[in-house]
Amino acid sequence: MRELKFYASNAVPLEMHKVRVVQKLNLLPIDDRLKAINEAGNNTFLLKNKDTFLDMLTDSGVNAMSDLQLSAMMIADDSYAGSATFSKLESKLEEFFGTKYVLPAHQGRACEHIISKVFVKNGDVVPMNYHFTTTKAHINLQGGKVLEIHYPEALIVESNNPFKGNMSPELLKKAIDEYGVDKISFVRMEAGTNLIGGQPFSLANLKEIYKICKQHNILLVLDASLLADNLYFIKVREPAYQGMDIRQIALEIAAQSDIIYFSARKLGHARGGGICTNNTELYMKMRELVPLYEGFLTYGGMSVREMEAITVGLDETMDYDMISQGPLFIEYMVNELKQHDVPVVTPAGGLGCHLNAMKFVPHISQSEYPAGALGAALFIAGGIRGMERGTISEDREADGFEHYSNMELLRLALPRRVFTLSQIKYAIDRIVWLYENRNLIGGLKFVEEPKVLRFFMGKLAPVSNWQDKLVTKFKTDFGDSL
Ligand code: F0G
Repeated sequence: MRELKFYASNAVPLEMHKVRVVQKLNLLPIDDRLKAINEAGNNTFLLKNKDTFLDMLTDSGVNAMSDLQLSAMMIADDSYAGSATFSKLESKLEEFFGTKYVLPAHQGRACEHIISKVFVKNGDVVPMNYHFTTTKAHINLQGGKVLEIHYPEALIVESNNPFKGNMSPELLKKAIDEYGVDKISFVRMEAGTNLIGGQPFSLANLKEIYKICKQHNILLVLDASLLADNLYFIKVREPAYQGMDIRQIALEIAAQSDIIYFSARKLGHARGGGICTNNTELYMKMRELVPLYEGFLTYGGMSVREMEAITVGLDETMDYDMISQGPLFIEYMVNELKQHDVPVVTPAGGLGCHLNAMKFVPHISQSEYPAGALGAALFIAGGIRGMERGTISEDREADGFEHYSNMELLRLALPRRVFTLSQIKYAIDRIVWLYENRNLIGGLKFVEEPKVLRFFMGKLAPVSNWQDKLVTKFKTDFGDSL
């Protein structure tokens, strides 16, 4: 949406679409919310959708789809091999990224599995602007190590830096000197850097990093899962590219990488994934793993209907009105919360609004999981389901010690075109109430702790009866309101 002015009221982000299919929501009474979160082991991943009012867990596979995407799904060609649907996806990706090869995979982590298996050797390092949970797990499984080489600003929660997702070229050169080219599997740049609050990199930074990679003959792998948000931010925050069309920016980004992979649960607003490259040798190295782990080369574990939807979704991603909607709603939420002094990640990023648990509940030590505790508390306060992005999302070190996360965030994802402004206002209202009652929130402890990616299935319990006290205060303040 382009500078739309309001006459008699303050400007708000305006939906450039209308709702044509709806899903009924339930808002349970607070006692039932308390019961539901405890049955879920205080882990929002384990909540049931029927118990959730606003599902802000993720934007993965849950972005609203367009009428054109849904209608394209009806004409999918379900041939096992040589499907016309795959050819359409291949040409759309060529148009989007300028790449001639596509390896389909069932989702983003499946691409990470293939890329790690082919390129990561035991003892290798993989420099990146920041890790993502599944990326790190796949690299570690191969015996490799993630090396985060961002600027210090990446970890400054409240900042004005427009490109906190940038990689430090100096640190990259240092890493190359220290480890040597042979020990570096590849350099990974993540668009819309997820775990630091959906923060973008600049095109100028990507160009600089790619140049260094080429000077040393190191591959650059781009994780384009959150590229839509990053495209928007380059367009609005990087003066050199403001006049450029989204399509041109996407091509320019793609030209600065050797391999691009993406989760189509995010990019393309459907469910699937893919790896793209222009390099025949790299393509051949990865190709044989696709039929082994994913499915034949013309579907790779995806439903053909989803592939049709991704093709249309990629086309729609080149539309400024479409890609601006998420970031503008997030910016609105961040600004409103800031007005009430609620600590949030700034600048407002993509993906969602991120609450800074370290400042929201400073009395909870990292050993009692502040972001996880805040997630449980917000569900009790409003039936709002966020996602812990802090220490619970890190696995323990091999010796059993906790790996305290650099940041303790509660992510409130805004799946694109899903929530209305009044729902966002309700979420803001409950967060502000919770902030004013933050002293009532206490910590959590594990009662069931899986060894790998524990945040998905782990169960926790409150360390005291703080949740009952929170419910009592809610009833005092809200009476019999839901
Ligand atoms: N890379 C990034 C940057 C991601 O955000 C994700 C997924 C993946 C890779 C893996 O893709 O889920 O299709 O296997 N992020 C989801 C999220 C899970 O909720 O942020 P996937």
